[in-house]
Amino acid sequence: MNKPDPAPSFDAAWRRADTIPGWLKPGQGELLWDEAVRLPRGATVLEIGSHQGRSTVILGEALRVGGGTVIAVDPFVEGRLFGGLSTREKFEKNIAAAGLDDVVELVADYSTALEPGWDRPFDLLYIDGKHDYWTVTSDLRWRRHLPEGGGIVIHDCYSSIGVTLAILRHVLFASDIAYERRSDSQALFRRRRPKLRDRLRILAELPWWLRNVVVKVFLRLRLRGVARLFGHDSPYDPY
Ligand SMILES: C[S@@+](CC[C@H](N)C(=O)[O-])C[C@H]1O[C@@H](n2cnc3c(N)ncnc32)[C@H](O)[C@@H]1O
Repeated sequence: MNKPDPAPSFDAAWRRADTIPGWLKPGQGELLWDEAVRLPRGATVLEIGSHQGRSTVILGEALRVGGGTVIAVDPFVEGRLFGGLSTREKFEKNIAAAGLDDVVELVADYSTALEPGWDRPFDLLYIDGKHDYWTVTSDLRWRRHLPEGGGIVIHDCYSSIGVTLAILRHVLFASDIAYERRSDSQALFRRRRPKLRDRLRILAELPWWLRNVVVKVFLRLRLRGVARLFGHDSPYDPY
């Protein structure tokens, strides 16, 4: 008799994901996991910005038992931070090592190029691509493919100037997206009509965002001691 698949566990998924370099923290991985694991069988998640697959593995592990699909969108741009073809090779190796080849579908292109012509629905949207205002503005438009109540998880939401400005301009006054909660800079929104208090909670995060921007400025000025006064004890940007 075949053994039933074991229940998916965040701890096991995180142990695997944490072997892959990237920026996702455990609490942020858990927020993503909680949204993915509750999706119905056969669900699809669309991820913008996969890098070496740290977040992709969390999503893939959450969907594996239910026969779901993660569409991973990343052009693997050349650059100091994210690095070209070798990053794609690392991504593919990491997905294969996790046994997720049947779950993860890679679309190696820019989200901004794909967005106007995309016509496949999905159940959860994860935005962690380029963090400038214009790209995030375009990435937020992908939510039109979500069902009512579908989750939108955004990394660096309140730690990057471009992302937060796009949220203020395109989410704060929108009538189809509501802010729910965050783990550090990773925020969860939902495709639904927002209440006034949902909008006010976006505004209530602004002091924290300003603190993160100020910390980044001190880090650029190599003033780590001053950044420490703001409770940030790391050479890396807050996220
Ligand atoms: C912060 S990393 C993603 C990290 C990844 N989610 C993780 O957990 O490790 C950002 C990624 O976005 C990709 N990227 C940049 N512009 C993009 C775009 N327009 N569409 C999709 N991905 C993009 C970069 O190639 C890079 O791999």
